[in-house]
Amino acid sequence: MRCTKCRSQEACLEVRRHNAAYCEGCFLDFFRDQVVRAIEHEKMFRRDDRVLVAVSGGKDSLALWDVLLDLGYEAAGLYIGLGIPGYSEPSREKCEAFARAHDARLIVVDLAEEYGLGIAETAQRTARAPCSACGLSKRYLFNKVALDHGYRVVATGHNLDDEAATLLGNLLHWQTGYLARQAPVLPEDDGLVKKVKPLYRLAERETAAYAVLRGIDYIVDECPMSRGAKSLLYKDLLNQLEAVSPGTKQSFLFGFLEKARPLFHEREAVELHPCERCGQPTTTPLCAFCRLREEVARPRRPRGRRHRRPASAPPGPPAPRPAERPVIPLIPVET
Ligand code: AMP
Ligand code: FES
Ligand code: ZN
Repeated sequence: MRCTKCRSQEACLEVRRHNAAYCEGCFLDFFRDQVVRAIEHEKMFRRDDRVLVAVSGGKDSLALWDVLLDLGYEAAGLYIGLGIPGYSEPSREKCEAFARAHDARLIVVDLAEEYGLGIAETAQRTARAPCSACGLSKRYLFNKVALDHGYRVVATGHNLDDEAATLLGNLLHWQTGYLARQAPVLPEDDGLVKKVKPLYRLAERETAAYAVLRGIDYIVDECPMSRGAKSLLYKDLLNQLEAVSPGTKQSFLFGFLEKARPLFHEREAVELHPCERCGQPTTTPLCAFCRLREEVARPRRPRGRRHRRPASAPPGPPAPRPAERPVIPLIPVET
């Protein structure tokens, strides 16, 4: 099949929701166009804004950093070491290698070293699921580090699949507060920097294809702590729908953003004030991050015999999940 844009090259990637198939060059143009459209249409940032890109070492956030640099934006990276054995180290190395290769600034903050809050340990010491402690800590640090270093915008690598899966989860549980805040742009507020998601128009397989075509070396393994996470199930379900009916994910998300989100948004205005301990904006006297630190610092009651794990299953996070299949996103085009 020929590329539907240039009509001269062989197509290497089909984008069924757009009724298109692209050759390598036209796919990269399509990818950049979608990012530019997101940035401009949603007024994410201007040409002269300095952007802090939150990078995990995975395909999405490194693809985002790459495309922003390529488009000429002043974009620095922020990597947060989450203290997940076997996963955090190699993730940081991918970010550092990318920064070196592109001569870009990378800020590294280590949760365990700087705050005594490594996710594996925090999950063991508190009743929280690892992903909840992780999400909370990341949100806090994105804002704090951006403010400390004079960035007014933080960009994350959330893509169309991430956003559609989050939307499905929030709808299934009628999380009206989260629905009100689910958007490609969260504006600056008292003490909160602007948060933007420039990849929200692009599917996960497209960010993977971009990363491969641009020669980006990213971490393929999933976070070992996310095993069994509901978000993976939601993505799977949406992919099944998408396979039967291309465009479902996009119309689900875009339809919500246009038609339904404003209804939730108006009802959920909240008042922010500085956290009594750290000064970061919060709705409660102590912010969630300071409460988490308190919880972790609290002395633990010794465990009774009944609760001890058998010697064959030592406590600690599961080993990183090996890539079940290599990410080869250049799916052959049906002829
Ligand atoms: P996740 O919540 O793991 O799906 O990641 C969503 C986005 O958060 C990624 O695309 C990154 O932009 C950002 N992110 C995730 N993990 C980290 C990390 N360790 N350091 C900095 N940013 C991260
Ligand atoms: Fe947060 Fe895995 S990246 S728990
Ligand atoms: Zn605080």
